[in-house]
Amino acid sequence: MVACGTSWHAGLIAEYIFEELCRIPVEVEYASEFRYRNPVIYKGDVIIAISQSGETADTIVAIEKAKEQGAFIFGVVNVVGSSIARISNAGAYTHAGPEIGVASTKAFTAQLVVLTLIALKLGKEKNTINEDRYVHLINELHNIPEKVKEVLLLNNEIKKLAEKHKNSKDALYLGRGYNFPVALEGALKLKEISYIHAEGYAAAEMKHGPIALVDENLPVVFVATKDSYHEKIISNIQEIKARKGKVIAVISQGDETIPKMSEDVMIVPEADELVAPMLSVIPLQLFAYHIGVVKGCDVDKPRNLAKSVTVE
Ligand code: G6P
Repeated sequence: MVACGTSWHAGLIAEYIFEELCRIPVEVEYASEFRYRNPVIYKGDVIIAISQSGETADTIVAIEKAKEQGAFIFGVVNVVGSSIARISNAGAYTHAGPEIGVASTKAFTAQLVVLTLIALKLGKEKNTINEDRYVHLINELHNIPEKVKEVLLLNNEIKKLAEKHKNSKDALYLGRGYNFPVALEGALKLKEISYIHAEGYAAAEMKHGPIALVDENLPVVFVATKDSYHEKIISNIQEIKARKGKVIAVISQGDETIPKMSEDVMIVPEADELVAPMLSVIPLQLFAYHIGVVKGCDVDKPRNLAKSVTVE
Protein backbone atom coordinates (compact mmCIF):
# COMPACT_ATOMS: atom_id res chain seq x y z
CA MET A 1 0.00 0.00 0.00
CA VAL A 2 1.34 3.43 -0.86
CA ALA A 3 -0.09 6.73 0.35
CA CYS A 4 0.71 10.00 2.13
CA GLY A 5 -0.59 11.75 5.23
CA THR A 6 -3.95 10.65 6.54
CA SER A 7 -4.36 8.18 3.68
CA TRP A 8 -1.16 6.50 4.86
CA HIS A 9 -2.71 6.10 8.30
CA ALA A 10 -5.73 4.40 6.70
CA GLY A 11 -3.22 2.07 5.01
CA LEU A 12 -1.61 1.20 8.34
CA ILE A 13 -4.97 0.11 9.75
CA ALA A 14 -5.75 -1.80 6.56
CA GLU A 15 -2.45 -3.66 6.88
CA TYR A 16 -3.64 -5.20 10.14
CA ILE A 17 -7.06 -5.93 8.65
CA PHE A 18 -5.70 -7.57 5.49
CA GLU A 19 -3.25 -9.70 7.40
CA GLU A 20 -5.95 -10.74 9.87
CA LEU A 21 -8.73 -11.49 7.39
CA CYS A 22 -6.84 -12.52 4.26
CA ARG A 23 -3.45 -13.75 5.53
CA ILE A 24 -1.76 -11.71 2.79
CA PRO A 25 1.51 -10.02 3.79
CA VAL A 26 1.20 -6.26 3.45
CA GLU A 27 3.75 -3.46 3.45
CA VAL A 28 2.60 0.12 3.89
CA GLU A 29 4.91 2.78 2.51
CA TYR A 30 5.03 6.53 2.34
CA ALA A 31 4.82 7.16 -1.40
CA SER A 32 7.66 9.67 -1.06
CA GLU A 33 9.99 6.98 0.31
CA PHE A 34 8.83 4.23 -1.99
CA ARG A 35 9.50 6.25 -5.13
CA TYR A 36 13.18 6.75 -4.35
CA ARG A 37 14.18 3.38 -3.05
CA ASN A 38 14.57 0.12 -4.83
CA PRO A 39 11.56 -1.86 -3.61
CA VAL A 40 11.27 -5.57 -4.30
CA ILE A 41 8.25 -5.92 -6.55
CA TYR A 42 7.31 -9.06 -8.42
CA LYS A 43 5.14 -9.18 -11.48
CA GLY A 44 1.55 -9.53 -10.33
CA ASP A 45 2.10 -7.98 -6.91
CA VAL A 46 -0.75 -5.67 -6.05
CA ILE A 47 -0.12 -2.09 -5.05
CA ILE A 48 -3.08 -0.40 -3.40
CA ALA A 49 -2.70 3.35 -3.82
CA ILE A 50 -4.79 5.26 -1.30
CA SER A 51 -5.53 8.91 -1.98
CA GLN A 52 -8.36 11.30 -1.25
CA SER A 53 -7.53 13.76 -4.03
CA GLY A 54 -6.06 11.31 -6.51
CA GLU A 55 -3.55 14.03 -7.35
CA THR A 56 -0.76 13.65 -4.78
CA ALA A 57 2.48 13.88 -6.77
CA ASP A 58 4.49 11.39 -4.70
CA THR A 59 1.73 8.79 -4.88
CA ILE A 60 1.41 9.22 -8.64
CA VAL A 61 5.13 8.66 -9.19
CA ALA A 62 5.16 5.69 -6.80
CA ILE A 63 2.39 4.10 -8.86
CA GLU A 64 4.22 4.72 -12.11
CA LYS A 65 7.36 3.17 -10.72
CA ALA A 66 5.54 0.08 -9.44
CA LYS A 67 3.74 -0.27 -12.76
CA GLU A 68 7.04 -0.30 -14.64
CA GLN A 69 8.06 -3.25 -12.49
CA GLY A 70 4.94 -5.22 -13.34
CA ALA A 71 2.72 -4.48 -10.34
CA PHE A 72 -1.04 -4.34 -10.62
CA ILE A 73 -2.34 -1.03 -9.31
CA PHE A 74 -5.58 -0.81 -7.39
CA GLY A 75 -6.62 2.76 -6.55
CA VAL A 76 -8.70 3.67 -3.50
CA VAL A 77 -9.52 7.22 -4.43
CA ASN A 78 -12.15 9.79 -3.51
CA VAL A 79 -12.10 12.20 -6.44
CA VAL A 80 -13.77 10.66 -9.46
CA GLY A 81 -11.73 10.89 -12.65
CA SER A 82 -8.58 12.11 -10.84
CA SER A 83 -5.07 11.23 -12.05
CA ILE A 84 -4.63 8.25 -9.73
CA ALA A 85 -8.05 6.91 -10.68
CA ARG A 86 -7.02 7.14 -14.31
CA ILE A 87 -3.60 5.52 -14.07
CA SER A 88 -4.70 2.64 -11.83
CA ASN A 89 -5.47 -0.74 -13.41
CA ALA A 90 -8.56 -1.08 -11.26
CA GLY A 91 -9.98 0.57 -8.21
CA ALA A 92 -12.79 1.51 -5.89
CA TYR A 93 -13.97 5.03 -5.28
CA THR A 94 -14.58 5.99 -1.68
CA HIS A 95 -17.43 8.35 -2.68
CA ALA A 96 -17.21 10.40 0.52
CA GLY A 97 -18.29 13.46 -1.48
CA PRO A 98 -16.11 16.56 -1.92
CA GLU A 99 -13.86 17.07 1.07
CA ILE A 100 -13.32 20.79 1.53
CA GLY A 101 -11.27 21.19 4.72
CA VAL A 102 -7.55 20.73 4.20
CA ALA A 103 -7.30 18.22 7.05
CA SER A 104 -8.81 14.96 5.87
CA THR A 105 -11.64 13.54 7.99
CA LYS A 106 -14.60 11.93 6.26
CA ALA A 107 -12.37 10.64 3.46
CA PHE A 108 -10.37 8.73 6.08
CA THR A 109 -13.53 7.00 7.36
CA ALA A 110 -14.55 6.12 3.82
CA GLN A 111 -11.07 4.75 3.06
CA LEU A 112 -11.31 2.49 6.09
CA VAL A 113 -14.72 1.23 5.00
CA VAL A 114 -13.63 0.51 1.43
CA LEU A 115 -10.39 -1.18 2.50
CA THR A 116 -12.31 -3.32 5.02
CA LEU A 117 -14.78 -4.34 2.32
CA ILE A 118 -11.93 -5.34 0.02
CA ALA A 119 -10.34 -7.40 2.80
CA LEU A 120 -13.66 -9.08 3.56
CA LYS A 121 -14.19 -10.00 -0.07
CA LEU A 122 -10.63 -11.30 -0.42
CA GLY A 123 -10.87 -13.24 2.83
CA LYS A 124 -14.07 -14.85 1.65
CA GLU A 125 -12.55 -15.76 -1.73
CA LYS A 126 -9.44 -17.18 -0.05
CA ASN A 127 -11.39 -18.93 2.66
CA THR A 128 -9.33 -17.28 5.36
CA ILE A 129 -12.39 -15.94 7.15
CA ASN A 130 -15.23 -18.08 8.44
CA GLU A 131 -18.84 -17.37 7.60
CA ASP A 132 -19.81 -16.24 11.11
CA ARG A 133 -17.02 -13.68 11.34
CA TYR A 134 -17.79 -12.49 7.83
CA VAL A 135 -21.47 -11.92 8.59
CA HIS A 136 -20.62 -10.34 11.94
CA LEU A 137 -18.23 -7.83 10.35
CA ILE A 138 -20.70 -6.93 7.60
CA ASN A 139 -23.27 -6.23 10.33
CA GLU A 140 -20.72 -4.19 12.24
CA LEU A 141 -20.18 -2.06 9.13
CA HIS A 142 -23.92 -1.58 8.74
CA ASN A 143 -24.08 -0.33 12.33
CA ILE A 144 -21.31 2.23 11.91
CA PRO A 145 -23.48 5.17 10.67
CA GLU A 146 -25.77 4.98 13.73
CA LYS A 147 -22.79 4.72 16.04
CA VAL A 148 -21.10 7.67 14.33
CA LYS A 149 -24.23 9.72 15.07
CA GLU A 150 -23.86 8.77 18.73
CA VAL A 151 -20.20 9.79 18.75
CA LEU A 152 -21.12 13.17 17.26
CA LEU A 153 -23.31 13.81 20.31
CA LEU A 154 -20.05 14.21 22.24
CA ASN A 155 -19.49 17.51 20.47
CA ASN A 156 -20.30 19.83 23.41
CA GLU A 157 -18.39 17.73 25.88
CA ILE A 158 -15.33 17.76 23.64
CA LYS A 159 -15.66 21.51 23.18
CA LYS A 160 -15.26 21.90 26.95
CA LEU A 161 -12.29 19.58 26.92
CA ALA A 162 -10.72 21.67 24.19
CA GLU A 163 -11.19 24.80 26.26
CA LYS A 164 -9.40 23.09 29.13
CA HIS A 165 -6.42 21.97 27.06
CA LYS A 166 -6.09 24.86 24.61
CA ASN A 167 -2.91 26.18 26.20
CA SER A 168 -1.01 22.90 26.10
CA LYS A 169 2.31 23.13 24.35
CA ASP A 170 2.55 19.44 23.49
CA ALA A 171 0.44 16.30 23.54
CA LEU A 172 1.20 12.62 23.29
CA TYR A 173 -1.23 10.21 21.57
CA LEU A 174 -0.96 6.51 22.30
CA GLY A 175 -2.72 3.42 20.97
CA ARG A 176 -2.13 -0.26 20.29
CA GLY A 177 -3.19 -2.60 17.50
CA TYR A 178 -5.91 -1.21 15.26
CA ASN A 179 -5.93 1.93 17.39
CA PHE A 180 -2.20 2.61 17.02
CA PRO A 181 -2.63 4.34 13.64
CA VAL A 182 -5.62 6.19 15.15
CA ALA A 183 -3.22 7.66 17.69
CA LEU A 184 -0.97 8.79 14.83
CA GLU A 185 -3.97 10.31 13.08
CA GLY A 186 -5.20 12.08 16.22
CA ALA A 187 -1.78 13.64 16.71
CA LEU A 188 -1.65 14.68 13.06
CA LYS A 189 -5.05 16.38 13.29
CA LEU A 190 -4.01 18.33 16.39
CA LYS A 191 -0.78 19.53 14.74
CA GLU A 192 -2.49 20.40 11.48
CA ILE A 193 -5.32 22.50 12.76
CA SER A 194 -4.38 23.79 16.20
CA TYR A 195 -0.58 24.07 15.78
CA ILE A 196 -0.01 22.27 19.06
CA HIS A 197 2.92 19.92 18.80
CA ALA A 198 1.68 16.36 19.12
CA GLU A 199 3.31 13.02 18.78
CA GLY A 200 1.56 9.74 18.06
CA TYR A 201 3.19 6.53 19.25
CA ALA A 202 2.55 2.86 19.75
CA ALA A 203 1.65 2.74 23.45
CA ALA A 204 4.17 0.06 24.40
CA GLU A 205 6.95 1.74 22.46
CA MET A 206 6.71 4.91 24.55
CA LYS A 207 9.02 3.39 27.14
CA HIS A 208 11.76 3.65 24.54
CA GLY A 209 11.62 7.43 24.40
CA PRO A 210 8.46 9.53 24.75
CA ILE A 211 7.95 8.53 28.38
CA ALA A 212 10.81 10.91 29.17
CA LEU A 213 8.50 13.79 28.16
CA VAL A 214 5.77 12.92 30.64
CA ASP A 215 5.13 15.31 33.52
CA GLU A 216 2.10 16.97 35.10
CA ASN A 217 1.76 19.36 32.16
CA LEU A 218 1.58 16.80 29.37
CA PRO A 219 -1.83 15.68 28.11
CA VAL A 220 -1.57 12.04 27.07
CA VAL A 221 -4.43 10.91 24.86
CA PHE A 222 -5.05 7.17 24.93
CA VAL A 223 -7.10 5.51 22.21
CA ALA A 224 -8.27 2.67 24.39
CA THR A 225 -11.55 1.21 23.15
CA LYS A 226 -12.32 -2.38 24.22
CA ASP A 227 -10.29 -4.79 22.13
CA SER A 228 -7.84 -7.64 22.48
CA TYR A 229 -5.16 -5.20 23.65
CA HIS A 230 -7.27 -3.75 26.45
CA GLU A 231 -5.40 -5.13 29.47
CA LYS A 232 -2.13 -4.09 27.91
CA ILE A 233 -3.19 -0.51 27.30
CA ILE A 234 -4.49 -0.27 30.87
CA SER A 235 -0.93 -1.04 32.02
CA ASN A 236 0.35 1.71 29.74
CA ILE A 237 -2.13 4.15 31.28
CA GLN A 238 -0.84 3.18 34.72
CA GLU A 239 2.70 3.93 33.56
CA ILE A 240 1.64 7.45 32.54
CA LYS A 241 -0.37 7.99 35.75
CA ALA A 242 2.65 7.02 37.81
CA ARG A 243 4.53 9.86 36.13
CA LYS A 244 1.69 12.35 36.71
CA GLY A 245 0.71 12.72 33.04
CA LYS A 246 -2.80 14.06 32.36
CA VAL A 247 -4.66 11.08 30.91
CA ILE A 248 -7.44 11.71 28.41
CA ALA A 249 -8.91 8.48 27.05
CA VAL A 250 -11.19 7.45 24.22
CA ILE A 251 -12.97 4.42 25.65
CA SER A 252 -15.90 2.12 24.95
CA GLN A 253 -19.27 2.37 26.64
CA GLY A 254 -19.34 0.18 29.74
CA ASP A 255 -15.64 0.48 30.52
CA GLU A 256 -15.46 0.90 34.28
CA THR A 257 -11.70 0.69 34.70
CA ILE A 258 -10.21 3.45 32.58
CA PRO A 259 -12.48 6.30 33.84
CA LYS A 260 -11.02 5.75 37.33
CA MET A 261 -7.54 6.26 35.95
CA SER A 262 -8.26 9.22 33.66
CA GLU A 263 -8.71 12.93 34.03
CA ASP A 264 -11.16 12.96 31.12
CA VAL A 265 -12.81 10.35 28.94
CA MET A 266 -14.58 10.41 25.60
CA ILE A 267 -16.97 7.45 25.41
CA VAL A 268 -17.81 5.79 22.09
CA PRO A 269 -20.15 2.85 21.39
CA GLU A 270 -18.64 -0.63 21.48
CA ALA A 271 -17.66 -2.12 18.14
CA ASP A 272 -15.56 -4.98 16.80
CA GLU A 273 -11.89 -4.03 17.01
CA LEU A 274 -11.55 -4.16 13.22
CA VAL A 275 -14.05 -1.37 12.69
CA ALA A 276 -13.43 0.51 15.97
CA PRO A 277 -11.05 3.06 14.37
CA MET A 278 -14.00 4.42 12.34
CA LEU A 279 -15.46 5.52 15.67
CA SER A 280 -12.43 6.19 17.86
CA VAL A 281 -10.94 8.70 15.42
CA ILE A 282 -13.95 11.02 15.53
CA PRO A 283 -13.52 12.38 19.09
CA LEU A 284 -9.91 13.11 18.20
CA GLN A 285 -10.94 15.01 15.08
CA LEU A 286 -13.45 17.01 17.14
CA PHE A 287 -10.89 17.67 19.86
CA ALA A 288 -8.40 19.08 17.34
CA TYR A 289 -11.18 21.06 15.64
CA HIS A 290 -12.40 22.72 18.85
CA ILE A 291 -8.89 23.54 20.05
CA GLY A 292 -8.22 25.10 16.64
CA VAL A 293 -11.45 27.13 16.78
CA VAL A 294 -10.95 28.32 20.35
CA LYS A 295 -7.39 29.39 19.50
CA GLY A 296 -8.67 31.36 16.52
CA CYS A 297 -6.94 29.20 13.90
CA ASP A 298 -8.35 28.82 10.42
CA VAL A 299 -9.35 25.17 10.77
CA ASP A 300 -10.43 24.87 7.14
CA LYS A 301 -7.20 26.20 5.71
CA PRO A 302 -4.33 25.72 8.16
CA ARG A 303 -1.17 27.67 7.42
CA ASN A 304 1.45 26.09 5.16
CA LEU A 305 -0.74 23.13 4.19
CA ALA A 306 -2.49 22.28 0.95
CA LYS A 307 -5.48 20.05 0.33
CA SER A 308 -3.77 18.39 -2.53
CA VAL A 309 0.02 18.30 -2.75
CA THR A 310 0.81 18.24 -6.44
CA VAL A 311 4.49 19.02 -6.05
CA GLU A 312 7.23 16.86 -4.67
C1 G6P B 1 -2.21 16.64 2.14
C2 G6P B 1 -3.53 16.87 2.86
C3 G6P B 1 -3.81 15.68 3.79
C4 G6P B 1 -3.79 14.38 3.01
C5 G6P B 1 -2.47 14.20 2.24
C6 G6P B 1 -2.56 13.05 1.26
O1 G6P B 1 -1.17 16.71 3.05
O2 G6P B 1 -3.49 18.06 3.58
O3 G6P B 1 -5.09 15.84 4.41
O4 G6P B 1 -3.97 13.29 3.89
O5 G6P B 1 -2.19 15.39 1.48
O6 G6P B 1 -3.49 13.40 0.28
P1 G6P B 1 -4.31 12.41 -0.61
O7 G6P B 1 -5.21 13.30 -1.42
O8 G6P B 1 -3.32 11.68 -1.48
O9 G6P B 1 -5.05 11.49 0.28
